[in-house]
Amino acid sequence: MSKKPIGVFDSGLGGLTAVKELLEVLPNEDIVYFGDTGRVPYGNRSKSTIIKYAQQDAGFLISKNVKFIIAACGTVSSVAGDLGGSIPIPFTGVVRPTAAAAVKATKNNKIGVIGTSATIGSGSYKKEIERLDSQIEVYQQDCPLFVPLVENGFISEDDPIAVMVVERYLSHLKEIGVDTIILGCTHYPILKGVISNFMGEAVTLIDSGRETALYTAEQLKKRGLLNDGTDAGQCSFFVSDTPDGFSHLAGMFLDRNIDRSVTQIDIEQY
Ligand code: DGL
Repeated sequence: MSKKPIGVFDSGLGGLTAVKELLEVLPNEDIVYFGDTGRVPYGNRSKSTIIKYAQQDAGFLISKNVKFIIAACGTVSSVAGDLGGSIPIPFTGVVRPTAAAAVKATKNNKIGVIGTSATIGSGSYKKEIERLDSQIEVYQQDCPLFVPLVENGFISEDDPIAVMVVERYLSHLKEIGVDTIILGCTHYPILKGVISNFMGEAVTLIDSGRETALYTAEQLKKRGLLNDGTDAGQCSFFVSDTPDGFSHLAGMFLDRNIDRSVTQIDIEQY
């Protein structure tokens, strides 16, 4: 048993899709979240930059004495899956649990993968799916405008800009007839409503934040690291740019007021 917090990081708001699920499946756990809002997006940066950022993000969480780290970022998980090596505590990325859930979900063996350009360029989900089941056909599509849409709050199902961008990126996958789509960037589940409206209800959307939170719960149990307390867990949020925009959008997404629990830090110190 461990009362230490779980550490979660992402380039911005996306990792909150994992936090939202953790709050449900592990309500007694404390969570420390870091969103690298000063350096978002990661998805169009070089491998060496992404590795450097991921190491600093993990370094900050380690300084908060966390017991487990979730790299709740498809880009980091794809490009810097081992967080640059030598992380002294257990951690997970999002690729493995998400790919496994998609393989379970598909019935017609056609899976679409959407993610940032870095994630799609790495082929991470495709390789993992093919490792699990070589019969499955995988179709990839990068969607570089999705992260800025989310970070700027263009997320409503009625938002004409969000609807237009989704249509532009996903038409090809719709024509192919995939029955399952991996939302391979943790920001994308925030656009789930718009994506689902366009693809139709018959297409299963696999949420990388959710699958990774469920996997984390399993891992903590297996490693004897669950918090056995009965009090509701506390969440603290840290960002690398001004907290204002983050507090508002994150509060809306998590359905709670978090204004007082968001602190700005200097990530370059880690
Ligand atoms: N949530 C990150 C991911 O899962 C967004 C990457 C970015 O900042 O471009 O890939």
